[in-house]
Parts: sequence; structure tokens; C-alpha cells
Amino acid sequence: MNDLHLCPCLGYETFCELRRSVGWDLRPEPQGRAALAATARAVTAWQDDTPVGMARLVGDGMYWLLVDVAVRPSFQNRGIGRLLVEDLLQWAQNRLQPGEKVTVHLVSARGREPFYHGLGFASVPDAGCGAGMRRTLLGPDC
Ligand SMILES: CC(C)(COP(=O)(O)OP(=O)(O)OC[C@H]1O[C@@H](n2cnc3c(N)ncnc32)[C@H](O)[C@@H]1OP(=O)(O)O)[C@@H](O)C(=O)NCCC(=O)NCCS
Repeated sequence: MNDLHLCPCLGYETFCELRRSVGWDLRPEPQGRAALAATARAVTAWQDDTPVGMARLVGDGMYWLLVDVAVRPSFQNRGIGRLLVEDLLQWAQNRLQPGEKVTVHLVSARGREPFYHGLGFASVPDAGCGAGMRRTLLGPDC
């Protein structure tokens, strides 16, 4: 794709714009800004001056969580999502010292599993692990 470039950055306005583009809700601004500030590594894809995709890794170097993988609908199915995730995986791979390993976790949106399988992720439960689990906690008035 002409003029597509990746940037290891993600500003708050771009984050909101791309979340809206795929129909995701926005958290209160202080929570969103704090989440971006605490992000270990983010990447955005740009077509000229237009942000067309993003992805982030949060975690501690033993475990990463892959979140906010989103490509603007009019730019989907052109390989951008794959580029974004591969960029983050390469970053995580490059940080590993001799003897270290790291696990990258994610929760796939329903129906997107084949996208992640194609990037080397395995579904759980599997032979060694039970189901992934999560619990949502709500703040006052939420
Ligand atoms: C999921 C998403 C990030 C994929 O991005 P994308 O740029 O469209 O994906 P790509 O073009 O890079 O696709 C890479 C591969 O995954 C496959 N793929 C992508 N979406 C798929 C789907 N829904 N079902 C099956 N395969 C899919 C593509 O065919 C491609 O396969 P190939 O490499 O063998 O050709 C994008 O569809 C999106 O933003 N969706 C809305 C938000 C969302 O659900 N995000 C995921 C949150 S967990």
C-alpha cells in the first residue's frame, strides 16, 4: 500500500478516533490518558496524515496483554492489522535476553480468532490450560 507507515506512538485523540471508527466505547478521558501513559509499547499505522490502525501492549515483560487492535473499517483486509501485531511481537521478541521467555495474551473479539491464529496465537482452553477468565469491576456511577 502506498505511503502506509507505522509509528511507535499513540496519542489520545488518535486513540479515541480509532476506537470510535470500529464502534468501541470511550472510557472517561483521565482513564484513557492514564492507560496510554502506562502502555509499554504502542504502534499506529498511518496512510498519509490519516491514522488507519493501532495496537498496544501492556504488561511487565513476563506477560504482555495485547489490546486495542483496531483497523479503520475502510482500511481492513489490506494487511494492516497483521503489520501492527507483527510489529509489537517483534518489539517483544527483541527485548528478550538469553534464557527468557514471555507470553503474549489477548481476548479475541468474537469471530476474529482466525486473524490471531494466523499470527501464531493458540486458543485456550488447550491440553495444558483451562479457559481464560476475566472479571469487570465498575466504578461509582458506572
Ligand atoms: C481484526 C482486525 C484488527 C483485522 O485487521 P485487518 O487489517 O483487517 O486484517 P489483515 O488484513 O491484516 O488480515 C490478516 C489476516 O487475517 C485474516 N483475517 C482478518 N480478519 C479476519 C476475520 N474476521 N476472519 C478470518 N480471517 C480474518 C485475513 O484474511 C488475513 O489473512 P492472510 O494473512 O492469510 O491473508 C480488523 O478487522 C478490525 O479492526 N476489526 C474491528 C475491531 C476488532 O474486532 N479488533 C479485534 C479486537 S480483539
